[in-house]
Parts: sequence; structure tokens; C-alpha cells
Amino acid sequence: MIPPVPSGTRLLGITGAPGAGKSTLAAALRERDGVAVVPMDGFHYADVELVRRGLRERKGAPETFDAEGYAALLRRVRAGEADVVAPMFERDLEQPLAGAIPVPATGTVVTEGNYLLLDEPRWRAVRAQLDVVWHVVLDDAVRIERLVERHVRFGKTPEEARAWVASVDEPNARLVEACRERADLVVELS
Ligand SMILES: Nc1ncnc2c1ncn2[C@@H]1O[C@H](COP(=O)(O)OP(=O)(O)O)[C@@H](O)[C@H]1O
Ligand SMILES: [Mg+2]
Repeated sequence: MIPPVPSGTRLLGITGAPGAGKSTLAAALRERDGVAVVPMDGFHYADVELVRRGLRERKGAPETFDAEGYAALLRRVRAGEADVVAPMFERDLEQPLAGAIPVPATGTVVTEGNYLLLDEPRWRAVRAQLDVVWHVVLDDAVRIERLVERHVRFGKTPEEARAWVASVDEPNARLVEACRERADLVVELS
């Protein structure tokens, strides 16, 4: 059951641990309500910048995202600016792609990603642009299996996928779960 979006919402955030079902829920809202979806994943730094910062091995952690750029784009959306075009994350390339998602100047926009409720200045600036934030939860064993499957689908071996989940995704999942109490609504998925 997908909860109703509160009327008058300009920006709805969906957060939750990696693999919990954020992107799938956002896509379901697009189908049901015709909302536009802006993924936080579009604000991954490109590999070229991660290498410059010495962060290539931590890709997916909070410091590997352009949180300032994300907050600035959400501010433009909130202001009802015309011609806002958000970046997407291209999963085959595993790179962000600028100028990929046109954002309507009116109506509800959903944005989804791991770190919308992180208690750090650069992420609080993101939260400040959102009207409402939902936190999605899914049984950990199911979530981890789906996460491994997704990594395999995009090119990792099962062993590489499990190692990546254990060393990168799960520490990030714990950071995200620690933010649960700041959500306006917790949505249990299955
Ligand atoms: N209800 C479901 N049943 C089976 N697989 C699902 C379901 N919901 C999501 N998935 C799959 O689980 C994986 C993680 O979901 P996703 O929405 O990508 O999570 P997130 O965006 O939170 O990381 C994806 O491969 C997705 O296709
Ligand atoms: Mg996702």
C-alpha cells in the first residue's frame, strides 16, 4: 500500500537504506500520481572527481555526493523556476549524466536517495528544501539479497557483489537507519 502524498506538497523526499526500495516506490508514485522524480543518485560525483578526492573506493558514501549542487537544484525546483533539468545516474556507466530529467515548474516532485535526513550541514540544506520526508524500511535479509542481485545485474560477480555490500553498502545503511526518527512517515515495504 502506497501512502497518499499530502495535498499541496511541492517536494516529497523518500529515503531509506540501499536496496530498501526507494527508487521502486518513487517510480510507483510517478505511475499513480504523475509526479516527476529527481534521484539523489544524479548527484554522485563522477569517477574523475572521486579519484581527485581519493574517494573512489567509497563511492556511495555521503561525501561522494555533490550535496551542495543537489540542494541548489531543489531550491530552484521549490522556487518554481522554469527549465530545471536534473541529472540522472546512468547505471551501465555508473556515472552521473547532466541535463537528463526535466522538472515541471508546478505540481509534486519526488526526490529519493540515501542521505536526505543526515544530520550534517550540507545534508540539512537538502532537507530544508523538502516539505515531507518518508523513510522506507524493508526486512534486512530481503534487502541485502535484492541489493546483491542488483549489483550482479549491473556487472559484478556474486562474490564482488557480496563484498561490496558488506564493506560499502551496509555501513551506509547504518548511517541511513540512524536517521529514521527524523522522518515524517515510516513506510514498511515487503
Ligand atoms: N517488491 C519487490 N519485489 C522484488 N524486487 C523488488 C521489489 N521492490 C524492489 N525490488 C528490487 O530490489 C532492488 C532494490 O530496489 P530499489 O528500488 O532499487 O532500492 P533503492 O532505490 O532503495 O536502493 C531493485 O533491484 C528492485 O528492482
Ligand atoms: Mg535507488
